[in-house]
Amino acid sequence: MPLTEIVRRNTTRSVRFRGMDLLNNPALNKGTAFTEAERETFRLHGLLPPIVESLDEQCVRAYEAFSLKPNDLERHIYLRQLQDTNEVLFYRVLLDYIDEMLPVVYTPVVALGCQEFSHIYRRPRGLFISYPLRDSIPALLRNHPNPEVDVIVVTDGERILGIGDQGVGGLGIPIGKLALYTLIGGIHPARTLPIVLDVGTNNEDRLRDPEYLGWRHSRINGPDYDEFINAFVMAVKGVLPRTILQWEDFAGTHARPILNRYRDQLLTFNDDIQGTAAVALAAILAGIRIAGTSLREQQIVFFGAGAASMGVAEYLRGALIAEGLSAEEARSHIWMVNRGGLLHSGRTDLTPEQQLYAQPWSRVAGWLRPENDTIGLSEVIHKIHVTILIGLSTVANSFTEPMVREMARKVERPIIFPLSNPTDHTEAHPADLLRWTEGRALVATGSPFAPVSVGGRTIPVSQCNNVYIFPAVGLGVIASRPFPDSVGAARITDGMMIAAARKLAEHSPALKDPSAPLLPVLKEIRRVAIEIAFAVASEAQQSGVAPSLDSNSASLRSRILASQWSPAYPTYLPVSI
Ligand code: NAI
Repeated sequence: MPLTEIVRRNTTRSVRFRGMDLLNNPALNKGTAFTEAERETFRLHGLLPPIVESLDEQCVRAYEAFSLKPNDLERHIYLRQLQDTNEVLFYRVLLDYIDEMLPVVYTPVVALGCQEFSHIYRRPRGLFISYPLRDSIPALLRNHPNPEVDVIVVTDGERILGIGDQGVGGLGIPIGKLALYTLIGGIHPARTLPIVLDVGTNNEDRLRDPEYLGWRHSRINGPDYDEFINAFVMAVKGVLPRTILQWEDFAGTHARPILNRYRDQLLTFNDDIQGTAAVALAAILAGIRIAGTSLREQQIVFFGAGAASMGVAEYLRGALIAEGLSAEEARSHIWMVNRGGLLHSGRTDLTPEQQLYAQPWSRVAGWLRPENDTIGLSEVIHKIHVTILIGLSTVANSFTEPMVREMARKVERPIIFPLSNPTDHTEAHPADLLRWTEGRALVATGSPFAPVSVGGRTIPVSQCNNVYIFPAVGLGVIASRPFPDSVGAARITDGMMIAAARKLAEHSPALKDPSAPLLPVLKEIRRVAIEIAFAVASEAQQSGVAPSLDSNSASLRSRILASQWSPAYPTYLPVSI
């Protein structure tokens, strides 16, 4: 389809529904914004109040209704209902009030939405693929509600944010993530598909809840789980072969094996591993530039050695190697601490992946205190010159004042990222970090925090959230296709994710203004997404993952812009039957 046609379809649209069928279709409904002519053509007269409103006027009312809701859960429910009623208005409200809306539609409030999923359930959205129906997965997938799908986000609900197993309630996460694909990446909402793989739950509260909507069974695991996942992936390859498949909030034990098994088979990535890694790398690269140092001068400590930490460490190791360090030298800059203390070669409880980051026992043996049989975070911070401290542990307040002061004693601009979600799992509050370091720390968090006043300055706190990466990666992959339904990038590579990270780092506002945040403000995020998408698609073309379509950058850029959906009402034309 030529580009002009795509643009034209964004401004006028042929519609075959009439009357209540049109008003009940969230993708088409304009509510009070249907014009007189449309009301006439589509038999809407009498079904709507007589006043015709603009989208701006509708936004005012929607925001007023949102503001009247008494608590976060009610605000979340309101937005989900708006999404199920009028998608254009939903996305327009999200865009206009992005700072206020993002935490409600996504983290941290979506955690509540997942916990309460079975109680706040109203209308179907996405697909439930339940283990008892494992023999009909292709048929379930073929029931996807819209004809074309560019992006699937799938979860099995086992490790939702920092709140653990939510069973089928985990569907709130793919729904939220896909809303962000549209909001930020401009992916057409009708081309997204949230999926929950309902493999049971080990959450006793859910199993006991009479209203629980999922399969009331303990989680399947082992070969049964693997076979189920495999059947799902094969069905995606068969039914939706050109679709991006994003894995979200799987337990650490499953996340990496699934990624490794399928990353070379289809267009897939794991957001908790690769998305987190890319955004953290971007924030680190930005922080290092602001601190006026180089990557090879850093000693990086991870608190938590789970799926997310492993992903960040892998990209960091890659970046260190790209700076000329050997693999061994790169490893020596990375320290990891988990429940069993510092990862070192004397430990027998490490996974093969964790062993890669085990410090040689000979290097750390002397650090063991007689009263302890592990080397804790505090010891590590006292023994080495830590320049970067990253929390991906889910352990609230684990970055203590003595630890942070010790770090700040040795480093002019300590880079400290408490990344655990939701808010009450954060390893430290930004206000404390900045107070303990006299405002010198470069801070990014997992959950949103208000700006911090310190020493007469107000310092905005960046949320180091994958949202900076995945919608833009999706946009870049989609734009790597010559036409909407043709073949583009065949895989999502680490090279593409790292290209996204480097581009995001270049857009750090703090590079120009020391009082600005480390990562772009949300109001800028849609604009920055275009630049990141450009970097991703260029990398895909240069590395041969996508067809080389563009003789100049202008053609790629115009395809990216043309791929973006914006929340505006097209004019409807009747389909002549
Ligand atoms: P995980 O369960 O795979 O790993 C958690 C790690 O923390 C494990 O290594 C565990 O041993 C360690 N840990 C737990 N309790 C500890 C303790 N008391 N002392 C020392 N270590 C301890 O979880 P995953 O997927 O790595 O996620 C961790 C956190 O990161 C979650 O809160 C999640 O919400 C957050 N996260 C944040 C992202 C962001 O963009 N900001 C993205 C992905 C995850």
